[in-house]
Amino acid sequence: MTATAAIKIQRFSEVSDDDCQARIQAAKEVLGERLLILGHHYQREEVFRHADASGDSLKLSRVAAASRAEYIVFCGVHFMAEVADILSRPDQVAILPDLAAGCSMADMANLAKVERAWRELSEVIDPDQTVTPVTYINSAADLKSFCGEHGGIVCTSTNARHVLEWAFERREKILFFPDQHLGRNTAYKMGIPLDDMVVWDFDQPMGGLTAEQIKNAKMILWKGFCSVHQMFRPEHIDAFRKKFPDGKVISHPEASFEVCQKSDYVGSTEFIIKTINESPDGSRWLVGTELNLVKRLAEQNKARGTHVHFMSPTLCMCSTMFRIDPQHLLWTLENLVEGKVVNQIKVPEKTAAQARLALQRMLDLNI
Ligand code: 13P
Ligand code: SF4
Repeated sequence: MTATAAIKIQRFSEVSDDDCQARIQAAKEVLGERLLILGHHYQREEVFRHADASGDSLKLSRVAAASRAEYIVFCGVHFMAEVADILSRPDQVAILPDLAAGCSMADMANLAKVERAWRELSEVIDPDQTVTPVTYINSAADLKSFCGEHGGIVCTSTNARHVLEWAFERREKILFFPDQHLGRNTAYKMGIPLDDMVVWDFDQPMGGLTAEQIKNAKMILWKGFCSVHQMFRPEHIDAFRKKFPDGKVISHPEASFEVCQKSDYVGSTEFIIKTINESPDGSRWLVGTELNLVKRLAEQNKARGTHVHFMSPTLCMCSTMFRIDPQHLLWTLENLVEGKVVNQIKVPEKTAAQARLALQRMLDLNI
């Protein structure tokens, strides 16, 4: 970022939240249908309310692909804006209002480490014949591209089970990155025992595994995790059930195996929203996912006497999603009004082509 651009952001950071709201609205009116603002469920309320479409990462990737808007402003994190760029037309522009909005889990895997894992695996097995690489959508574009190139696929928390079925129809093993929990929780639900899963520690030679362990494994799980969802503990569920024996527990599959096992329901953010919004009036829920979404659910359901509790006693939220504030959104939009594109996310075409292939394999499953 140039010094002038930084100074300009500095100037915007001083605009009050109230003024931001009015100016964002005004900029949206000027840009009209040329602009599409996408908002992930974890966005804070003052940003989320400006989204033209909201959803989980799967829904938003579909909306981005179908959009005709010239500018797609993604209020989410970096990998989401990359997906919007990959799936949109070449003349559309994907924008992330704050480039520091990354995903700490996505950062736990990178191309060098995954290529090294593939090389090390090939000392023991022939990965191109026996392993389907599956990347969670929470990953950089070059890892999606790696999957495209090696007969692999992308998944989201909504379609992980169908994607794993697709992968096992092709090869006997899966290398799943970067989130070990989504991989383990999904595979276990499909009937794969924990004994058939190993964790690939990317800081150790050969993932810290023996040749025997690699040969016997069906699921090789990358040692990544989400710093938000790892805060939820089985004892939080025990304490809730003791206090509210009739209450229900629902968690995102990025939570640990123990938490998911103790939950009544496990699913993506869209699934969590649908389940709670359609639950009987007066019901009570403990929810293991990001705080902004849980707060929104509590607010939306309180008029009908439905209680929604956050699973952790610590008020943890996704700090990178939180980087997108009204001030950055305003800065982005007012620059667009002046004909200037700031914070464009552009994936190089060579990477995008293979990443698109892996994403398309997922989208073709139509889940
Ligand atoms: P969803 O696919 O459920 O939106 O989850 C994305 C994410 O980053 C959850 O932490
Ligand atoms: Fe990444 Fe976790 Fe934030 Fe989701 S909640 S964007 S996985 S850090």
